[in-house]
Amino acid sequence: MSERMGRQKIAGILGSGTSGQKVEVKGWVRTRRDSKGGFSFLELNDGSCLQNIQVVAPAALSNYESDVLHIHQGASVAVMGTVTPSQGKKQGVEIQADSIRILGASDAQAYPIGKQKMSFEYLREVAHLRGRTNTFGAIARVRNVLSSAVHEFFQTRGFLWIHTPIITSNDAEGAGKTFQVTTLDLEKPPRNEAGVDFSQDFFGNRANLTVSGQLEAESYALSLGDVYTFGPTFRAENSHTSRHLAEFWMVEPEMAFADLEDDIELAEAFLKFLFKTVLERCPEDMEFFRQRIDATVVDTLTAIAASDFKRLTYTEAIAILEKESGRFQFPVHWGVDLQSEHERFLTEEVFKVPVVLTDYPKGIKAFYMKVNDDGETVRAMDVLLPKIGEIIGGSQREEREEVLKTRMAESSVPPEGLDWYLDLRRFGSVPHAGFGLGFERLVQFVTGMANIRDVIPFPRTPGNLRY
Ligand code: 4AD
Ligand code: MG
Repeated sequence: MSERMGRQKIAGILGSGTSGQKVEVKGWVRTRRDSKGGFSFLELNDGSCLQNIQVVAPAALSNYESDVLHIHQGASVAVMGTVTPSQGKKQGVEIQADSIRILGASDAQAYPIGKQKMSFEYLREVAHLRGRTNTFGAIARVRNVLSSAVHEFFQTRGFLWIHTPIITSNDAEGAGKTFQVTTLDLEKPPRNEAGVDFSQDFFGNRANLTVSGQLEAESYALSLGDVYTFGPTFRAENSHTSRHLAEFWMVEPEMAFADLEDDIELAEAFLKFLFKTVLERCPEDMEFFRQRIDATVVDTLTAIAASDFKRLTYTEAIAILEKESGRFQFPVHWGVDLQSEHERFLTEEVFKVPVVLTDYPKGIKAFYMKVNDDGETVRAMDVLLPKIGEIIGGSQREEREEVLKTRMAESSVPPEGLDWYLDLRRFGSVPHAGFGLGFERLVQFVTGMANIRDVIPFPRTPGNLRY
């Protein structure tokens, strides 16, 4: 018989197990207690839900002395038994074991996951085992539901999922914070008059990890209408904040025949759908986050799912912020990029709902955004949330070839390599718009976790690459 056959998940048994039912469960032991009455209790978790199931191991088991009394925290076991009503108040049912088999023993002294409360900083050092804690199990399940909800949202609206490349020759945001990809020998790279001779590199040219799938998504939007990407993106920013990763996942929808208004509407509907879905499908994990991580998190998501987002222009926002300049660390005036403290002030203190800021100065935004008639601002939009600040950045795209070329020159974006992008404006250009949602910032917001490093299984940040 295969290992999987017959196995039931703990979530199913706790949810709908009936008394007298014969079951087989497999999982990892959280604790073992031995009673004076001559039997033991195992708290077992298999990742299918937050709750453990209690297994009662009678001393009559043939391997009680030899095995059961040597089962320690972290060990994996297979249990066959009968579902019975639980004596304890916490859960409805438990399992009376007929047999317990140790699959993998665990040395409790050496096991890095202790019973005592461990800091999230410590758990990052043992990220390979932190999934066995309540918090990281709950995060993984919520992250999974959110991923699936991303696809559900776009698929039910007729958007095509496009797989854009990881290795590219462009820097979509024009910010120069890319990780280079090369197979050249860094000790002695081939040289020419200009320096390193990248024509001898793997792709015959400079290559980097993508910072965004947007430019490629635009090409498919201008062929197929509505598309989206959902994949990893990479930024070599030396950021040590609680909201930045060097490798993060981004969701980027792109719509043809659409303007900034359509873009904002899509973003608002998208966030509300994600919040509603996670509240509906993860009640137990969300209750855990409310109790243990952030007491406001469920109320905040519920309120946002039912609220209208506030829309205002960057210029209007600056007027509000300038009146309060005394409270900020970073000075604020027209033309500066907003800091997280400014974004949070607007959404947390002034409007108390998510804020959509539009029409930023062109000097602080990427080259591809559509220039407004004032010649100074672009059709950009950022969605700001409490605690997180910017969660979504998007824009209507510049569809006019000449204006786009000028913006590339102004933004020092080399046109070499982007002639294909200009082609999209030469052959059947149409108004189009899209945005990017930082997936980890979403998971962070939904779970209330303070640090973005804790909502992705193996975080990549400057100086850290243990895994
Ligand atoms: O605002 P950004 O840079 O926009 C783009 O990349 C556009 N190409 C998107 C588009 O229009 N298709 O990034 C989008 C979002 C941000 O709002 C933020 O949530 C997240 O990506 N983000 C990060 N998340 C974690 N770590 C980082 N270093 C991030 N940088 C951006
Ligand atoms: Mg941005």
